[in-house]
Amino acid sequence: MHTSQPESQEPLKHIDQWDDFVAARYQQGKDASEFRNYDEKANPSVVEFYRLNHANQTLDFVLEKEKEFGQLGRGKKSIWAAADYLNTLVDDSDPDTDLTQIEHLLQTSEAIRKDGHPRWFVLAGFIHDLGKVLCLYGEPQWAVVGDTFPVGCAYSNQIVFPQFFAQNPDSLMPEYQTLYGVYEPNCGLENVHLSWGHDEYIYRVARDYLPEPALYMLRYHSFYPAHRHGAYRHLMSPQDEKMFDWVRKFNPYDLYSKGAAKPNLRELKPFYEDLVAEFFPAEIDW
Ligand SMILES: [Fe+2]
Ligand SMILES: [Fe+2]
Repeated sequence: MHTSQPESQEPLKHIDQWDDFVAARYQQGKDASEFRNYDEKANPSVVEFYRLNHANQTLDFVLEKEKEFGQLGRGKKSIWAAADYLNTLVDDSDPDTDLTQIEHLLQTSEAIRKDGHPRWFVLAGFIHDLGKVLCLYGEPQWAVVGDTFPVGCAYSNQIVFPQFFAQNPDSLMPEYQTLYGVYEPNCGLENVHLSWGHDEYIYRVARDYLPEPALYMLRYHSFYPAHRHGAYRHLMSPQDEKMFDWVRKFNPYDLYSKGAAKPNLRELKPFYEDLVAEFFPAEIDW
C-alpha cells in the first residue's frame, strides 16, 4: 500500500483483502444464513478494517469527502491514465498469483462480454473500481473500500459487523438513529448519503457519460446491505427498485470472475480502446 496514512489506519495488507472477504462471504452455492459464519471466520485485519470503517464513517465525514473529492477538482485524466495509475497499487506479497487492478477490471468486463451483454454494461465492468485511486490520493482504506451503508439514519443489522457502529459518534445522535433519520420515506437513494468510498467517486466521474443502469452499477456495487440483503427499501424510490435489478445483475461478475484466466491486456486493448472512446471524451474530470 502506498499511502501517507499511519499504519494503524491501514490494517489490510492490500485493499483486495476486502474484496476477497466479500467474495468468500457470498461464495456461490452458500445461502444467506451462512453469512454470519463468514464474519466470525474473517481474519483479524479484515475485522479491524471494518471497525475503523464503521467507527469513522459519520454523516459529517461523508459530507466533507463529497465536497473534497465529489466535485472532481483533481484535474483531467483519461480513463486509461486512471487505470494505469490505479495499477501502481500492487500487492508485493505474492506477485505470481495476485491480480493487478487492471486484471480484475478486465476479468469482470470480459465475463460480462462473454455473456453477450450490451457494450455499456461491459464498460461499467471495466471501470467499476477505478474509484480506488482514492487510495493513491492518501485516503485511508476505510474511506475507499468496504460495504457501503446510509449515514444519518439507523444502521441496518444487515450490515456486516454491526456491533462496530457503537463506536461511531453518530450513534449518540438521536436524530440520526431513527429509521428515516435525516431522510424522507422513499426519498430515493440520490437523496441519501452512503458511506464514502470508491463507488461514489467513480459514479461522479462517469455521471455525464454512461446510461442510468451503468451508473447504478458503479454507484451501488458495494451496497451489499441493499442489493444482497434487501435492507433500506424504505429509502428507495420505485426507480431505485427497478435499477437495482441491474446492480444485482452486475454483482456476480465482480465477485466471481477472479478465478478466470489472467486476461491479456495487449490482446484486449484495441477492443477496450474503442469501447472507452465510444462513451468518454479523451479526458474527463477526476
Ligand atoms: Fe468495487
Ligand atoms: Fe471489483
